[in-house]
Order: sequence, then structure tokens, then C-alpha cells
Amino acid sequence: MIKIVLVPEIELSDQQKLGVEELERQCFSDVDPKEGEECFCAESFARILAYNNNELVGCLTLHKRDRKFDGRELVLGGAVGACVAEYVRGRGIATKMMKKGLEVLREQKCDVACLNADPVKRKTAYMLYQRLGFKLMKRKISFEDIHGNIRYDTGTMFIPLRSKEIFNHIMNSNKTFHYGKGYW
Ligand SMILES: CC(C)(COP(=O)(O)OP(=O)(O)OC[C@H]1O[C@@H](n2cnc3c(N)ncnc32)[C@H](O)[C@@H]1OP(=O)(O)O)[C@@H](O)C(=O)NCCC(=O)NCCS
Repeated sequence: MIKIVLVPEIELSDQQKLGVEELERQCFSDVDPKEGEECFCAESFARILAYNNNELVGCLTLHKRDRKFDGRELVLGGAVGACVAEYVRGRGIATKMMKKGLEVLREQKCDVACLNADPVKRKTAYMLYQRLGFKLMKRKISFEDIHGNIRYDTGTMFIPLRSKEIFNHIMNSNKTFHYGKGYW
């Protein structure tokens, strides 16, 4: 029996923190830890955790920040780092966590949400996000890493939450979308 729970970052127990670290280590063994720390340096506000009986088997990290794009204020949400223990994959756990995460971001007044999923390297995740309504941006995005360097990347997907209009504006513009500090 799978249970999905929302836990604010400040309420995470030590046991939950250790469990999340271990899951992320297993699921993102292909990511260079130094690169990860330099790019994903922002504080999250909550986690969506998935339990199989009483065992932690999934985690999704939630972010939120105020941004300006092309002179327009917006609230940007992030539902990132989805990971599920290998033995329970393909049962809809990540899909459930994403749906819950997007619901929370909507309640948090986020206009749009975005995440990165390489369509080739992370095909399962990419397809999953697509089914939920995320669309791939054709342009590169930019973000500031922990050292203050501006980096560029492709593979960013956006989904409208409270504003379809802001979503369309971001997707159809020819300007580079800047995340701000941290690629989440
Ligand atoms: C990506 C990841 C989080 C997906 O987790 P998951 O719980 O297996 O995802 P879901 O079960 O919701 O969906 C995955 C697949 O299972 C299928 N599925 C969903 N519910 C199902 C069900 N009840 N029965 C059978 N299949 C189901 C989905 O259709 C989907 O099929 P696809 O592989 O053809 O796309 C997991 O593979 C993972 O942790 N990967 C490593 C880390 C990673 O790459 N994270 C993404 C970062 S962008």
C-alpha cells in the first residue's frame, strides 16, 4: 500500500533526511556530485515522500521563487529530483508524487512550474512529465551556479499552473528564460 505525504522542509526528521539522501544517491548515481552541488544549490520548501508500507521509496523536492521574465513578475514553481526505489518503479509512484507536488505548487500561487529532463538520458521521466502536461522548451535556459557563474542548458520543461497566459508568453518568446540562483 503506497502512501504519499507532504512534509515541509523544516519538519523533515533526521531519519527522513537520511532516507532521502540514500534514495537520491541510488537514483542519481549518473550525476557528478560536485556538478550537482554547484548547480542545484537553492533551498527547497517541502518534499513529497512516498512510503511502501513504512519504507521510504520515493521523493520529490518542491521549490518556489519570484522571478521576472521579459519585464513581467511571476511566481515560478519547481517539482524536481523525482526518484523512486528501483524495485517499485513502473507502478505509478512518481506520477502520484508529481500530481501531489503540482497541486501544492498551485496552492502556493505558482503561475508556472519547470524542471529539467533530458528527453534522451531521462526518457521515462520525460514521457511521464509530458503525460502530466509539461512541454519542452526549444530554447536554452540560463541559471546562476553557486559560484555566481551563468550556465546554459537545454531540456527544460514547463507546465502552466495558475496562468496559461504567462506560460504561453515564456514558451513563445525568443528571450532566454533565466532561473535565477540555482538550477533549483
Ligand atoms: C523516473 C522515475 C522517478 C519514475 O518513477 P516511477 O514510479 O517508476 O514512475 P511511474 O510508475 O509513475 O511511471 C513510469 C512508467 O510506469 C508506467 N506506469 C505507471 N503506473 C503504472 C501502473 N499502475 N502499472 C503499470 N505501469 C505503470 C507508466 O506508464 C510509465 O511508463 P513508461 O515507462 O512507458 O513511461 C524513476 O524511474 C527513477 O527514480 N529514475 C531515476 C531518477 C530519475 O531519472 N529521475 C528523474 C529526474 S528528471
